[in-house]
Amino acid sequence: MRPSAENEQRERLKCVVHPSADIASALAAAELATLIRRNNAAGRPTVLGLATGSTPVRLYRQLIRLHREEKLSFKNVVTFNLDEYHGLPRTHPESYWRFMHEQLFNHLDIPPANIHIPDGTVPRAEVFAWCRAYEEQIRAAGGLDVQILGIGRTGHIGFNEPGSGRDSRTRLVTLDALTRRDAARDFVGEANVPRHAITMGVGTILEARRILLLAWGEAKARVLADAVEKTPTDSLPASFLQGHPAVELHLDAAAASELTRLRHPWLVGTVDWTPAITRRAVVWLAQQVGKPVLKLLDEDYSEHGMADLLTEQGPAYGLNIRIFNELQHTITGWPGGKPGADDQHRPERALPAQKRVVVFSPEPSDDVLGMGGTLRRLVDQGHDVTVAYLTSGNLGVPDEEAAMAAELVIDLAGTGTEFAQTVRRQLGAKAAFDSDTPEIRQLKGVLRRGEARASLQACGVAATRARFLDLPFYEQGRYRQFRIGEADIAAVAALLREVQPHQIFATGHSADPSSVPALGFEVLRRALALAAGEAWRADCRVWLYRGPDREWEPAEIEMAVPFSPRELTQKIQAIYHHKSQRSQSPVVAAGLHESWQQAEHHNRAIAGRYDALGLAEYEAIEAFRRWRES
Ligand code: F6R
Repeated sequence: MRPSAENEQRERLKCVVHPSADIASALAAAELATLIRRNNAAGRPTVLGLATGSTPVRLYRQLIRLHREEKLSFKNVVTFNLDEYHGLPRTHPESYWRFMHEQLFNHLDIPPANIHIPDGTVPRAEVFAWCRAYEEQIRAAGGLDVQILGIGRTGHIGFNEPGSGRDSRTRLVTLDALTRRDAARDFVGEANVPRHAITMGVGTILEARRILLLAWGEAKARVLADAVEKTPTDSLPASFLQGHPAVELHLDAAAASELTRLRHPWLVGTVDWTPAITRRAVVWLAQQVGKPVLKLLDEDYSEHGMADLLTEQGPAYGLNIRIFNELQHTITGWPGGKPGADDQHRPERALPAQKRVVVFSPEPSDDVLGMGGTLRRLVDQGHDVTVAYLTSGNLGVPDEEAAMAAELVIDLAGTGTEFAQTVRRQLGAKAAFDSDTPEIRQLKGVLRRGEARASLQACGVAATRARFLDLPFYEQGRYRQFRIGEADIAAVAALLREVQPHQIFATGHSADPSSVPALGFEVLRRALALAAGEAWRADCRVWLYRGPDREWEPAEIEMAVPFSPRELTQKIQAIYHHKSQRSQSPVVAAGLHESWQQAEHHNRAIAGRYDALGLAEYEAIEAFRRWRES
């Protein structure tokens, strides 16, 4: 789909879609570098508004590279950060002060006096005055030349959560429940996430002369499309950017995927009716008018801007049947292929009848959440299944679980083993926000292995089929700061070479590129590239499954594996074995926040959508797409 003025007519903010977050970040860095160089040459300071979080990390790496390799000087750059958690000391591993120094400032020649970050330690009584002074400092510096922004899933910019007005200024705010949930990983548990923050206001941000908003990954897609295409409202603060004269959004394909020009291109212009777009459009039409596919009329098509599709491929009846059949052919109870069956219209090939299958799980539990029912089927149908856990997942285990396990070992062994004693001592000495010691991480990793084995067994997979790769990028890093290396790729490549799979199941292809699933997928992609010339590779299909936050749309699905009510219960039981991943808070558990609840909800929702389209009515469906290297 070529971008054109016609395609972009619904977009009230200028959006540029890039092939990757790296490319987008390099362009944003180049724009900043040009401005800084021009100002440096003229002896003028450059005033930058900066953000934290996963989004700008690549941009900051580029700025560091420009400083090191191309002598870009930051001596005359003045910075103001958007926000900071209230109540965190600077030394806290999740403080934005620390983040900015570790990710950027420590690597540049910027004078410390030029750096301004909201102070999370200001006492409540003084916050108001402090915030006014922050605004005054921005004004005194000449205002912001460029403001860098990310966007939260609530639609926040800075920490301006829904409800923030267009004219809001720097102030103390209460964080939205979703924002706190999104930060729970970083703080190892939602209970540890601060409830308040100091943030520049929407009005403060809008005074910047230029604004660059960056966004990556499918989790941002929905909120982004709303911010870009809907009328500005304080229930979605990012939408207020629409009033700004020089704002630009740089997106990767996953973050842009809900923009109308990409999701429903027929609504905004003429399209090439490829088979994929046709299928999407017909399914969308059926959902829009609330009819099964086979009951769509010519009028339905023409009343919804799809008359040209009818002209090309109509009348409706034949087109409906074709799409119905395509959807029907995605359904299979044989995810590894049905032996002896004609496989021309089946998602998977019949031969070889017994396939070697590798299921990659970024962290323990992603496998059962995304495809617990399919895993059981694959095993029951005689395939040789290996489940490869890419990372130990130890960063996701609360201390309480580790303490309990250490106590257990000590109790069992009477006087206790040395290792458990060490962990107990270290946990006891651990201050509120200290990072885990290697021993604590090791024990937490052991816990997750135990859960993964129990969960596999509940899916009918022998625990011996599990392979724990403990990839070094994860063991040596922490959230948002992982970097994959050759050793990670070599470990996955070695497993692939050993198993020589016919089928691979994987996830993370369109996740936030800093997330563990996305990095895990990148490692797999590179390992597969290494194997490009090998014989097994030519006969190996890669199937993608999705994490619990989002399900595929029916038109995107290439293999739909239905399961019975009993199989759904078994899947939930399997997920339940990942005890350390359950919510630590009974209050949170009351919503739809537990991952097993989300998985159940999604699997039922897909089945419901297939049913509404006029296909068979199943209890639950797990869905997959083929991954084809482009
Ligand atoms: C950070 C900030 C936030 C983040 C947003 C996205 O300073 O102000 O608005 O930009 O929450 O966070 P990430 O980038 O972690 O997805």
